[in-house]
Amino acid sequence: MELLLLDRDPDVRQRVEELCRERSHGLYQAADVDQALARLQTQDIDAVLLAPGFSDTIPLGATIAACSAREASVVLLLDQVARLGRLDSRSQELIDDFVLVPVDVELLGARLELVARRRRSESVRRATLRALPDMMFRIDENGTYIDFQAPEQEHLYVSADRIIGANITSLLPKPQAHQCMNVIRQVLATGEPGFTEYHLVEPEGNRYYEARMVRADDGEVVALVRDVTHRRRAEDEIRAAVQAKQAFASRVLSIQEAERQHLSRELHDSIGQLLLVHRMDAEWLVSHTDEGIAHDAAERLCSAIDDTLHLVRNLAMDLRPPAIDDLGLESALETLCVDLARRSGLRCAFKSDPNLNGLSSDAGVCLYRIAQEALTNAVRHARARTLKVSLFQEREAVTLSVIDDGVGIPPAQLTDAASFGLVGMRERAELVGGCVTIQTSPGTGTTIRATVPHRPHRLSRSPHQAPPRREENT
Ligand SMILES: Nc1ncnc2c1ncn2[C@@H]1O[C@H](COP(=O)(O)OP(=O)(O)O)[C@@H](O)[C@H]1O
Ligand SMILES: [Mg+2]
Repeated sequence: MELLLLDRDPDVRQRVEELCRERSHGLYQAADVDQALARLQTQDIDAVLLAPGFSDTIPLGATIAACSAREASVVLLLDQVARLGRLDSRSQELIDDFVLVPVDVELLGARLELVARRRRSESVRRATLRALPDMMFRIDENGTYIDFQAPEQEHLYVSADRIIGANITSLLPKPQAHQCMNVIRQVLATGEPGFTEYHLVEPEGNRYYEARMVRADDGEVVALVRDVTHRRRAEDEIRAAVQAKQAFASRVLSIQEAERQHLSRELHDSIGQLLLVHRMDAEWLVSHTDEGIAHDAAERLCSAIDDTLHLVRNLAMDLRPPAIDDLGLESALETLCVDLARRSGLRCAFKSDPNLNGLSSDAGVCLYRIAQEALTNAVRHARARTLKVSLFQEREAVTLSVIDDGVGIPPAQLTDAASFGLVGMRERAELVGGCVTIQTSPGTGTTIRATVPHRPHRLSRSPHQAPPRREENT
């Protein structure tokens, strides 16, 4: 240990020197307080042994505070214990120990050992606090700061020397001080840890904080305060990016729908009409030619035009089934199922809730497209025998389910961002405020459920909340 002795009494000096020899402590002495403080500045002193009457000019309290501020333990050398009571409360807090004079060398050695032990554990505590990114404040029941630790003092809201002894109401803006005081009172009253979030306006923008508080001894609260500004800004950026992505997806999908509608109308109205005219011409040829090469050719032309008409009708239907707009989602889905069963040879049952009503056109188109994708997937990938499509009404939402009894979706495909069909189903549903869940297992097939509200509304989700989807690979 390195000791600094501030006492002029020759007897004390002699005994302390004896102790230092015995225990191999380093010993420094100073002629006055200024010299002592200079010594503390340049030397790593563990403990100051201080006699109350060491300086005639500098008050004892100031000397104790100055030594303690230079991180030395302070041990008072007293001729009677009663002198302790004459010290102000701040000085009493800063004293680490006291020893009575005439000094008992053994006793002083033992006390110094205790002081050193306390110092070590205090320095571990301080190092732990320094290692934390959080600021630590000790605050009493009235909101007065007793102590603090801040890893980066330049991040403090006020300068470090204004904190200790100040009241929270004089340091923080009123609403934030009020908010923190409420939590402090609650923590003190209940003994339960408290938590609060607040922000402070600073020249370079708002800074955000999270404070966790616990009750300590004697009506004190320890508050660990974390600056979460970076996290909050990152969250804002993610939220903005998610919103931008949703807006973009929404625009792409609505352009796609408009384009499909346009193409479908063109196919139906222009090409369909033209083909009908050609069909009539071809029929005319059939009826005005005698049996022979020309007649056969005209008949082949008729049937080729029929095939083309059929193809064009199917294409137009795929692009925008007129039934959604005219007859509603149920008819469109039923037609889809019948067509699919006819084309694929699979059994495809359709069931619908008789109470289905009030579905907006956007929600209807969304469910239709999801059904189209789910059914196409089932035919292309599932090796299923039976498909079931159903539509049923909940309170303010409609749920479509498409169930196949095929091989199930491989887990890797479920989470693959390149599964555009699956991703597209979810995005479509989320754009109208709905969600898609996929249940799938290798033996029993796949169930896709899409639930959308009657009237589309955008979801306001935080970017950290999981999107409303669930995949189960059972
Ligand atoms: N009903 C299903 N049964 C089995 N596998 C499926 C099913 N639906 C999708 N899959 C698998 O998931 C993959 C991704 O589907 P999707 O995103 O629609 O892309 P795509 O149909 O273009 O391959 C498919 O390639 C397929 O392997
Ligand atoms: Mg697909």
